[in-house]
Amino acid sequence: MEHIYPVIEKVGRNQKEQFLKQRAKVIWLTGLSGSGKSTVGLALEQELFNRGFFSQILDGDNIRAGINKNLNFTLQDRLENIRRISEVCKLYINSGIITISCFISPTFNDREMARNIIGEDDFIEVFVSTPIEVCEKRDIKGLYAKARKGEIKNFTGIDAPFEIPRNPFAVLDTQSKTIDETVNELLDKILPLISLT
Ligand code: ADX
Repeated sequence: MEHIYPVIEKVGRNQKEQFLKQRAKVIWLTGLSGSGKSTVGLALEQELFNRGFFSQILDGDNIRAGINKNLNFTLQDRLENIRRISEVCKLYINSGIITISCFISPTFNDREMARNIIGEDDFIEVFVSTPIEVCEKRDIKGLYAKARKGEIKNFTGIDAPFEIPRNPFAVLDTQSKTIDETVNELLDKILPLISLT
């Protein structure tokens, strides 16, 4: 871009990570609506906090209600949603903050872009694998029922795609395990990546 000059920071990411006594990563939770991404994200944040780690959750409630409120659910708008979120994630990790991102991010394209913006080393892809039948049965927000009646168009899993991640860092099963079990499993895998040695 023309006439844009990056700020050279005096206090860099590394110093901020030392200050916070952690290594920053983006924990990128992907999965269907109602799969449990935000539930897992919130429980993960609590467990991290209990262990002295500093994190921030990004999800539909704080992003689509604010910075992205002009975006819809076409594939193009979802991509723009994910692009902005990824840029926000990058700012957070540059501040040393562990970022827990909870978005459907339904396509390979969405997640590939997120990985490219955030950087391979910092992008931890976690698939919340709850099948659609279970999400639809839970239907906490009543949106699946509306989508089935045609009152919501382009609904993920109904008349819009969800492409299952091919090689995620972790796959979470929220069906046969409790949230505590799921989060503890994830935590065991993540702790070595975010701990300063
Ligand atoms: S994403 O596809 O762009 O990543 P995002 O995670 O931000 O989606 O938002 C998903 C949430 O928006 C869902 O959990 C649901 O509450 C709501 N929503 C509203 N319309 C749709 C739709 N057409 N498809 C999926 N989710 C929708």
